[in-house]
Amino acid sequence: MTDKTAFDTATRIAAGDDGTRHDNVAIALHWAVALLVVVQFAMAVTWDWFAKPTRQGLESIHISLGVLLTALILARIAWRLVPGHQRASPESGLVRIASKGVHYLLYLLLVAQAGLGFGFRWAQGHPVEFFGLFGIPGPYGELARPVRRQLHELHEWIGWAIVIIAFAHALAALYHHYVLKDRVLKRMLPAARRRSL
Ligand code: HEM
Ligand code: HEM
Repeated sequence: MTDKTAFDTATRIAAGDDGTRHDNVAIALHWAVALLVVVQFAMAVTWDWFAKPTRQGLESIHISLGVLLTALILARIAWRLVPGHQRASPESGLVRIASKGVHYLLYLLLVAQAGLGFGFRWAQGHPVEFFGLFGIPGPYGELARPVRRQLHELHEWIGWAIVIIAFAHALAALYHHYVLKDRVLKRMLPAARRRSL
């Protein structure tokens, strides 16, 4: 190790980074995606309770936030692909395979969900609008009703799958924190929060 890297390591450790925590960008993107997924789901399963104008308002917020969520998911994946931005799993053996499997499955479902959201909106013959600021036109026009129904159903099922899997994933993180008392949750928390835990 050169003097420079030894110095870098020492300052990093002194700053509270033991080399296993996720970086700040990854942490911010993780929690922003988690929050938006919950908001998206909550809106979609409740908008039927409201009268038409409110329901349509919620649907257009869902679509606009969907554009933002899609950008954040792609940013998260791109950031993770940059060398040095992955973190070794703290687990070993089967648990390590299972936890990695759940993470990859969540990424896959999130990308599929975003694609289906856009695909369905375009299939309705509309561009995907972002808070009235701009619209992203589709590569195709309105599609036949059975195709639209299928896209809608798939989007709805995957929405449920994401929320159920993410809930189990959150329970696992809490189990690590409160029962196993290890650093798995702490390494995904912002620095100030980690120090106080
Ligand atoms: C919809 C909600 C959520 C989604 C979609 C989600 C997704 C993910 C994904 C894809 C990863 C893998 C990160 C990577 O290494 O690239 C991850 C990691 C993590 N998540 Fe979540 N998450 C959600 C909610 C939560 C909640 C509520 C908690 C805590 C209670 C949590 C705690 C963690 C922790 C601690 C890690 C890091 C695990 C490790 O370092 O190996 N997540 N999450
Ligand atoms: C993980 C995030 C998301 C979740 C959990 C989610 C969930 C849902 C659910 C459950 C429905 C069905 C509601 C119903 O009609 O009963 C729905 C509808 C819809 N979603 Fe999403 N969604 C997400 C992301 C997106 C994205 C990224 C877009 C694309 C911009 C999008 C666009 C739509 C559209 C256009 C509808 C149909 C609205 C209508 O019925 O006219 N969604 N979403």
